[in-house]
Amino acid sequence: MSVMIAPSILSADFARLGDAVAAAERGGADFIHVDVMDGHFVPNITIGVPVVRSLKRIATVPLDVHLMIENADRYIDAFAEAGAGMISVHVEALTHVHRTVQAIKAHGVKAGVVINPGTPVVAISEIAGDVDFILVMSVNPGFGGQTFIPRSESKLREVRALLDAAGNAAPIEIDGGVDQHNIARVVAAGARIVVAGSAIYNTPDPERATRELKAAARGAAAVR
Ligand code: DX5
Ligand code: ZN
Repeated sequence: MSVMIAPSILSADFARLGDAVAAAERGGADFIHVDVMDGHFVPNITIGVPVVRSLKRIATVPLDVHLMIENADRYIDAFAEAGAGMISVHVEALTHVHRTVQAIKAHGVKAGVVINPGTPVVAISEIAGDVDFILVMSVNPGFGGQTFIPRSESKLREVRALLDAAGNAAPIEIDGGVDQHNIARVVAAGARIVVAGSAIYNTPDPERATRELKAAARGAAAVR
């Protein structure tokens, strides 16, 4: 599988989200990553269902909705109906992760499970056979622009081994602190969907930044 880029609009200008999405798409974005935060599971509040619904009207690529919220079960239907193409939920925030994954899939939406930097890979061992993707957090969730946690690289390899052992070819997504300097390493470690927020939107030319990150990622995948 080739590497795909998911620009995170968390670092974009929220007054011009349509422009932010269009620029990323011109640069070759494969998904638009939407960070939903509730001020409880993480110490920040961002956007919710109405914004996803509006983004769905203008985006030409699937919306990758990353739920950093408590009681995610309560909101799966709403985010699916708003137009999410992928929904990921944190294993740390769920009591019945298997049920939640099935609920996401029942909508025909790709289901992902996320693990935080402090969560061991074993936490997802029972669900590894059921997911459409795993998201490995390489920063503590809550804010864009944080520094990549180096241990995430070996964690990617551990998650790949777990998925392979479960007979699941599902891709691994990486999220947090990825930029031009480390993208080749995360791809070499097994990431196949790469989220980037500040490395795209905190630049003068998000279209170009998307294109360059994607080229670097694909170059790294090709030499493996
Ligand atoms: C962090 C979010 C990330 C964030 C990534 O909680 O889940 O998606 O936007 O931003 P960067 O790439 O700046 O770390
Ligand atoms: Zn995210």
